[in-house]
Amino acid sequence: MSEVNPETTRLETMRAAVRTLFDLNRQRGHAAWCDRDYDFVCPSMTTYPFQWFWDSCFHAIILSHLDPVRAESEITSLLANQWPDGLVSHAIFWRREAYEDRLADYSIAYRTPYLSDCMQPPLLAEAVAAVAARGRGGAFLREVLPAVRRYFDWLRDVRDPDHDGLIAVLQADETGLDESPKFDEYLGVSGDDRPDYDAAWHRVADPYAEVGRDPARMLALDRFIDEDVMVNTIYAENQRVLGDLLEQVGDIAAAADFRARASRTRDALVEKCWDPEAGLFWDLAGLAERPLRTSTFTSLLPLLLPDLPAPIATRLIAQLEDPGAYATLWPIPSCSRSEPAFRPGAIGEHLLWRGATWINVNWFLCRGLRRHGRPDLARRIEDSTATMIEREGFREYYDTLTGEGRGAPAFGWSALILDLLEARALEA
Ligand code: GLC
Repeated sequence: MSEVNPETTRLETMRAAVRTLFDLNRQRGHAAWCDRDYDFVCPSMTTYPFQWFWDSCFHAIILSHLDPVRAESEITSLLANQWPDGLVSHAIFWRREAYEDRLADYSIAYRTPYLSDCMQPPLLAEAVAAVAARGRGGAFLREVLPAVRRYFDWLRDVRDPDHDGLIAVLQADETGLDESPKFDEYLGVSGDDRPDYDAAWHRVADPYAEVGRDPARMLALDRFIDEDVMVNTIYAENQRVLGDLLEQVGDIAAAADFRARASRTRDALVEKCWDPEAGLFWDLAGLAERPLRTSTFTSLLPLLLPDLPAPIATRLIAQLEDPGAYATLWPIPSCSRSEPAFRPGAIGEHLLWRGATWINVNWFLCRGLRRHGRPDLARRIEDSTATMIEREGFREYYDTLTGEGRGAPAFGWSALILDLLEARALEA
């Protein structure tokens, strides 16, 4: 009798569950406002029925395992309305008119009613790499790389005005980590009250509107400037990956340029954000670049970088193994347990990223653990991640002490567990 490998069964069951989820959250049609077809996976039909930048990058990576044609559409729908300056809006309201009621709760800056005026973590090169690798390879790369390069040039030219290799976000939601406690003091909020955040949003967004949202003038106001560790880790990694993709299509000079840009960002993270005493990386706030000393998962994210110096990686891994910091029952918490702001699960009025476990965080850090010689710890975290999802479904986030699912149901990027399990299957 042939033995059934439990890992293979788990992977197959997960694949089927992700297919169902991605059929449920599929949005496709024709948008009259830009006269284009679209086909993408929204984060959640109940809460987030639109297209978000980094969600779509995660979705494309997941789709690359299931359906190369849909994976390409996810990317081409995202890039379809790229601005002439290079920005790709962080939210695209394809069928806005169908969901006007939902939009009342969103604090978002717009360029047009259909396109936001902000960025999100620049995961685009990794997404394109995954789609090309499991799909049409060089043919797809040649179609999309010019737009991808324009986007990364926009980041460098507009968001790195001090030319230190680190890009700045100008509003908290540009990090994708809306109410992270690392911003509390900087924003002047207590951390428990939704209306505080709405007021804080206006303190930043209203003066920006007064200067016509011109990036140079927004920066000069010095209202909210954050050289964020996670955003810049993703920036470094994606410039490196873009270098590899450009080499694949034979553009050797551009490949060398992007690799040099990636090294510069990594060096700046280590030189400017690493705190050897605390053993953590800190964001830099304002024109004065003041460190924001609250330990959240972003303080560990440079572990993702393959060329992070080994002694630093060791210190970050120690945090992941410390039960007083990040080693919870259902890891990885989005905020360290050592912080007074830490909250393990949902917080009354929908405040996000204050301690609960998010699957994209596990996806980043498990890959980092493997890159830095700790596949054992990565496997443990992947196993508990898969168990949470099997028990609770694909939720927006999970209580880090009980594993219970919280936030939006049928949430797209929680399916990143599939990418982790697929990678394991190749290892075996
Ligand atoms: C929330 C998250 C953000 C995400 C969006 C859509 O605003 O904080 O990261 O992109 O929802 O899922």
